[in-house]
Amino acid sequence: MQRVLITGASSGIGQQLALDYAAQGWQVIACGRNETRLAALRDQNSAITPLSFDVTDLATTRAALAPYTAELVILCAGTCEYLNDGVVDAELVARVLSTNFIGPINCLDALLPQLKAGARVALVGSTASLVPLPRAEAYGASKAALAYFARSLAVDLAKREIGISLVLPGFVATPLTDRNDFAMPMIITTEQASTYIRQGLAKGRAEIAFPPVFAALLRMTAILPQALQRWLAKRMVR
Ligand SMILES: NC(=O)c1ccc[n+]([C@@H]2O[C@H](COP(=O)([O-])OP(=O)(O)OC[C@H]3O[C@@H](n4cnc5c(N)ncnc54)[C@H](OP(=O)(O)O)[C@@H]3O)[C@@H](O)[C@H]2O)c1
Repeated sequence: MQRVLITGASSGIGQQLALDYAAQGWQVIACGRNETRLAALRDQNSAITPLSFDVTDLATTRAALAPYTAELVILCAGTCEYLNDGVVDAELVARVLSTNFIGPINCLDALLPQLKAGARVALVGSTASLVPLPRAEAYGASKAALAYFARSLAVDLAKREIGISLVLPGFVATPLTDRNDFAMPMIITTEQASTYIRQGLAKGRAEIAFPPVFAALLRMTAILPQALQRWLAKRMVR
């Protein structure tokens, strides 16, 4: 039986991935902080083992993950907070960077020594890192940092035959996006997101961006002059 370890499995995209991989016959280590929601997952499928820890705490993360290895690791835990009208709140930025960038790094520090040749690690970034979106300074920067780290790590881990996949979702309906007070174009369900991610990982894709039309529009926007990018981005997320 193959084993997948998923962070952020107590909610949203990660939760759907945990349920879908378990239904496919995988053994799932479902990580998060909310023990009640993780226990509910185990009750739905006994192939799911809950593991509770905070990814921002390196010592706790190392202790929690040290006993584990997996053929597939999906680092999905994340958060989103927006700045208000360009006011830079350093504590907010630190919180977002700590969860979205340092969190996955802490997990990699704890897990990479145990991974064997043929294993794959997916880092969940965001299409938001492709273009400058309003109020997304902290969130976009955290995901841009993660994207660079993933691409660089892919080069270094090739010699160990460990694959790295960067996952770039567009808008997905989850508790995280329920808080958004703006229109979210081409928003998809967690079931659709899980299908895109699982199919991409099964094919060993280095980058899994979805939904495809939304991702293609953002990629095209990203090669335009900066002034035009700013003009378009303001209109894409109003
Ligand atoms: N939804 C979207 O539209 C969208 C778009 C692009 C990228 N993404 C990315 O996809 C990932 C999942 O997002 P989602 O929409 O599914 O969000 P979500 O429903 O809010 O789930 C977030 C998950 O991350 C976990 N988490 C947060 N902080 C943590 C911490 N410090 N330690 C351990 N676990 C922590 C939460 O665990 P607890 O609840 O147990 O604390 C929860 O399981 C995130 O990285 C997000 O940035 C989402």
